[in-house]
Amino acid sequence: MTVQSPDDTAGTPVIQTAVPPASAAAPVGEPKIKARDVKVFYGDKQALFDVNIDIPAKSVTAFIGPSGCGKSTFLRCINRMNDTIPSARVEGSIEIDGADVNARSVDPVVLRSRVGMVFQKPNPFPKTIFENVAYGPRIHGLATGKVELEAIVESSLKKAGLWNEVADRLHQPGTGLSGGQQQRLVIARAIAVSPEVILMDEPCSALDPIATAKIEELIDELRSQFCIVIVTHSMAQAARVSQRTAFFHLGKLVESGPTEEMFTNPRDSRTQDYITGRFG
Ligand SMILES: Nc1ncnc2c1ncn2[C@@H]1O[C@H](COP(=O)(O)OP(=O)(O)OP(=O)(O)O)[C@@H](O)[C@H]1O
Ligand SMILES: [Mg+2]
Repeated sequence: MTVQSPDDTAGTPVIQTAVPPASAAAPVGEPKIKARDVKVFYGDKQALFDVNIDIPAKSVTAFIGPSGCGKSTFLRCINRMNDTIPSARVEGSIEIDGADVNARSVDPVVLRSRVGMVFQKPNPFPKTIFENVAYGPRIHGLATGKVELEAIVESSLKKAGLWNEVADRLHQPGTGLSGGQQQRLVIARAIAVSPEVILMDEPCSALDPIATAKIEELIDELRSQFCIVIVTHSMAQAARVSQRTAFFHLGKLVESGPTEEMFTNPRDSRTQDYITGRFG
């Protein structure tokens, strides 16, 4: 995957035996997501080393760092997508609202409805626009009937900023939309099951600047309701959309903090080098 230049414009609660490490970057209030000593191995190869981070609710956190540093790997820990990779093994703890996502009592399917995911390449189902959005609420029994289901579809498409463009063609295939529209359809699909967290892995990297701007506007609107984590290779995008930024390098979380501080006064020289384009 291409790394854009830094100046581009385009269950069961876990009993914690140790006091979580105090961090100057720790957000005020209880974090929505709390990761402690997260390690991920693919077979014998360790991809993540002791990641500790607090991620606040109702705000956007950007993950940045060079290709292969473990951003997607860490994102996948949050909704247990790594479960689907046979060689992957996760250690440490990740809590959402104080509950361990890896607890045996947690059904990963239910977890993934609470923690939605949007990928780099828009991936609508080969179904109509309506069915793409109605699918989740239907399988999770969120609507009592047709009228309620239609209301969920409409409000999700409105929240995703797509309603005006598709209201008259709800029963046409989702795959017939433009790339940017498809990405907003996928976001509407994620929103339709009322998630708490939305994970976005380079959601704009396949989009043109206009579609990118629309998604960024949408992310900014959604943050009043959701905890959003976005992986991006664009420093400009991280600066535009996020309130907090975390910099990963070679499988380690080097530092995290308020976005403005990270970009103007990073504590670590590796962060400085990355954001100024010296490597990556
Ligand atoms: N399914 C997998 N099997 C084996 N190794 C993997 C797998 N997925 C990722 N890795 C390895 O784990 C490391 C971290 O990869 P990851 O995809 O998380 O990086 P990334 O920061 O998201 O990179 P990019 O910016 O290119 O998307 C890399 O060394 C990668 O080769
Ligand atoms: Mg990645």
